[in-house]
Amino acid sequence: MKIKVSSEDLKLGMYISELDHPWIESPFLFQGFLLKDNEELQQVQSTCKYVYVDTEKTPFDVKAKLEVLSASKQKPVKKKKRKPTKIDFTDTVILKRSNFDKGTFTENLIKARKARDKTRGYIDSMLAEAKMGKIIDTHNAKTLVAELASNIVENLDASMWLTQLKARDEYTAIHSLNVCVLSLTFGRALGLDINQLEELGLGALLHDIGKMQVPLEILNKPGKLTNEEFEIMKSHAEKGYEMLLKDDTLTKEVLNIVRSHHERISGQGYPDKLLDKNISYYTKIVSIVDVYDAITSDRVYHDGMTPHEALKRLYEWMPDNYDTKLMQAFIKTIGIYPVGSVVELKTGHIGLVVKLSESHRLKPVVMLIMNRHKEYYPRRKLVNLASTIWDKRDGKPEIKRILDAKEFNIDVKKIINEESL
Ligand SMILES: [Fe+2]
Repeated sequence: MKIKVSSEDLKLGMYISELDHPWIESPFLFQGFLLKDNEELQQVQSTCKYVYVDTEKTPFDVKAKLEVLSASKQKPVKKKKRKPTKIDFTDTVILKRSNFDKGTFTENLIKARKARDKTRGYIDSMLAEAKMGKIIDTHNAKTLVAELASNIVENLDASMWLTQLKARDEYTAIHSLNVCVLSLTFGRALGLDINQLEELGLGALLHDIGKMQVPLEILNKPGKLTNEEFEIMKSHAEKGYEMLLKDDTLTKEVLNIVRSHHERISGQGYPDKLLDKNISYYTKIVSIVDVYDAITSDRVYHDGMTPHEALKRLYEWMPDNYDTKLMQAFIKTIGIYPVGSVVELKTGHIGLVVKLSESHRLKPVVMLIMNRHKEYYPRRKLVNLASTIWDKRDGKPEIKRILDAKEFNIDVKKIINEESL
């Protein structure tokens, strides 16, 4: 059973199963851990208002204290009932033969890939400049973001597909690029115009530039950060802001994103503990996208969540951290079956979601990669689950579930690379 416990009431030996905010933004390495020493206790108390303690994993003597606490202060909290979201897996999807044009999709993918590679090359040199403490030349960044923005306006699904290309190393570069592309995608869905998208995209691209001033051994530490290290890590937001302040061509909005992307609506964020009303709209957009990309990425020390799992977690963290309306819009944008997800159809086929349709959100276009016997197709084919022609030979391919790619050793990166070269 999980019990909600105020941080002040925590005792050594309690097993903390969940924090009140994304653990990726905490100094702790794992989602669940046993409180072993006073340093850890202080860290939890300084970063959380409350946590959830797992009574089953808590040793007996501590459990007794926990029970007293629980009886005197509060009723056990059942796992929070989520408000119904638009996520609904009960709809039936009828298999229809694809009328989706693979040629166009592949062409778009190649075009998006080129824009991405160009931006990636620029990010590498920009981060290297930042590391050496040089003044960042943001002129190129503006041109590239404008290119990415116009690409996304025309070519949304291919760009989103490419955000699945995540490598464990070179994390900050790929993360910056993905946060830029996903913020543009989200911004577009929110109805921003091209000028607004360019401003949002630039802030998103530069948001973590201050990390280049954080020592590598802290940035890539494969273990829990000490208090001191965590403070240094957190300083990246202010450091980035100070680096870019010298550039008088950047707007206040762009600088706000860089400084405030770790602010949270309850005032528990950093560096300024801003409250909801003082956090800008663009900053709120980037803060959602930033955490989404971080938790779906593989790092040296942990594997990323599936896009679908990540959306569920973000929704749980929403009340104290993210703007409700924006989060709901984000879930809608990324989709019920996010682009890039691996899905199993009821027929047994396995495929990758490549395109969402506004009018049929439960019926995406899927690239089939394995047949019903879990054998790879030599040539991958696309099926449009919303199409009206049903190919009887394949049976009904309703989406059965979202899969973790590891379950069948599917190398999503390899597939995307092969399709976009
Ligand atoms: Fe950051």
